[in-house]
Order: sequence, then structure tokens, then C-alpha cells
Amino acid sequence: MEISEEIYGQIRRLVYSASRINLGPDKKQLVTTRLTKRISQLGMNNFDQYWSYVLSPAGRPETGIIIDSLTTNYTKFFREPKTLDFLAKRILPEWDKSRTDPFSIWCCASSTGEEPYTLSIILSEFFGEENRHRWKLIASDISDRVLQTAQTGIYEASKLQLPDSRWVSRYFQRGTGAQAGKTRVKASLRNNITFLNINLFQANYPFDFKFDVIFCRNVMIYFDRNCQKELVNKLLTFLKPGGYLMVGSSESITGVTNNLRAIEPTAYKKEKV
Ligand SMILES: C[S@@+](CC[C@H](N)C(=O)[O-])C[C@H]1O[C@@H](n2cnc3c(N)ncnc32)[C@H](O)[C@@H]1O
Repeated sequence: MEISEEIYGQIRRLVYSASRINLGPDKKQLVTTRLTKRISQLGMNNFDQYWSYVLSPAGRPETGIIIDSLTTNYTKFFREPKTLDFLAKRILPEWDKSRTDPFSIWCCASSTGEEPYTLSIILSEFFGEENRHRWKLIASDISDRVLQTAQTGIYEASKLQLPDSRWVSRYFQRGTGAQAGKTRVKASLRNNITFLNINLFQANYPFDFKFDVIFCRNVMIYFDRNCQKELVNKLLTFLKPGGYLMVGSSESITGVTNNLRAIEPTAYKKEKV
């Protein structure tokens, strides 16, 4: 199937206005391949027909499906360990033990779940397995497809490269029979995470409290500087004074706002004022 320049331009604008993901001209082939599958699923024959459907009232949910099919979801367990060490060795030990409210983290572009499960292992190790009520973790993404995988918590066992081999049996269940070669995060850990569909650019976030830490890693790179600014300022309103915003190792938000101090290349602290 071929996609005309005109329709490609319209798809780009739709995706940008909904998610701020900027599909360059170089992504045309990817868009063609991914959406061709969707068009066949719907029993349609070409992009013109599909686009008329997308613009009709019945086609409204297609925006989410298009974004879902175009997002880049690469992630892995214990990705970029220096940032994780900062959580384990600096942020958590600073935590005031007399506090009665739970330590809270929002992992806001959580993809297929490896990142929030990594964080929950670090939290379990710090607080002790029996103290799950002392922390809470919200994991969110714009894509329902990746959230479904995240919630199921089933992975190829070969993807599990953990810094401490004892954590494999502590936090994962080995698959047997038809599930041989797979591993599943234990329910006790899965149940301590709330998974939500949140578009970082939606009007409001569904929280009536602020977080101690927000992990927003390897998603900022998809947005231009103005959108990064808009996003960081929005996230800041959900971060406690003295809380941390963590970004990916190829992302820098220095100069985006005056309210954050860079402590390490990927860790920014919200000023207490
Ligand atoms: C490359 S993955 C990064 C996953 C993980 N944070 C990590 O560092 O390994 C980027 C994720 O951002 C999500 N994403 C992209 N645009 C988004 C938006 N506007 N709102 C929420 N999530 C978004 C994608 O669906 C994808 O799962």
C-alpha cells in the first residue's frame, strides 16, 4: 500500500497534536508498514479509505491505535544502572524513616514494564519484602499495547539480567510447560504497582498527591525543546519540594526550568522554595 504525501502530513499532525511525537519524513516507511497491517485488519484497501474512516466519528479511537502502533518501546531490566544506583544509594537512604506516608514513585513512560519492575525490586530490597505498604509505584504509558504486557509481567527468561542473581527466585516465577523459557514477575510485586494509561500531554494527570521521585526516561528525546519545557514544568507540579526528576542518559533538561538543580547528569532535584 502507498501513502500519499498529503495523508502522511495529516497523520504527522494528528500524532504530534495528540502526543507531541514528531514523525520526521524519514518515518514514512515505518508508518506505511505499521498502518498497512491495521488497514488490512479493518478490511480496507487503501490509505484514502482509512483516512476518511479516521476522520469520521466512528474512527475516533483510531488516534490512540495509530500512536500505539508508532511508538518506540525499547527498554530493559536495570537499564542505565548509574541512575538506579542514585535511587538506591542516595535518594532512598535520605528518606525520613519516621514518615508515615508511603514513599512514592511515578514511572511515567514505563513501556512493557521492565523499568517499573526494576524500580520495585530496588524498593523491595530497601524497605524489606514485608514492607510493601511503605512504598507505592505508579507506572504509566500512552500505549495500551505495552501496558498490557507490563501488567501481565511475563518476559523471556533470557531478558532477565539482574545485578544480583538471588533476585531471580526472589521476585520471578519460572514458566513451565507451554511457558518454558519464560518468567513471570511474582504477584506480590506486580500487585504493588498501579498501571495507568496517561498521555504526558493530556490536560490533567489523575493524581491528588505529589511524588517523591518521577522517572521520565528515554521519552524526552522524542519531543522538541518547547515540548520538553512544557512537560518538565507539568511534571514539576506533581513533584514534592526536594523530590527528584530522573531522565535518560542521553537527555539533558538543564536550562529548561529554574526550579530544578542538576545533581548528577540524570538526576534533578526540585528546589524547596
Ligand atoms: C523508549 S521507551 C522508554 C521506556 C523506559 N522509560 C526506559 O527508559 O527503558 C518510550 C516510551 O514512551 C512512551 N511514550 C511516547 N510518547 C508518550 C506520551 N506522549 N505520553 C506517555 N508516554 C509516551 C512510548 O509508548 C514508549 O513506551
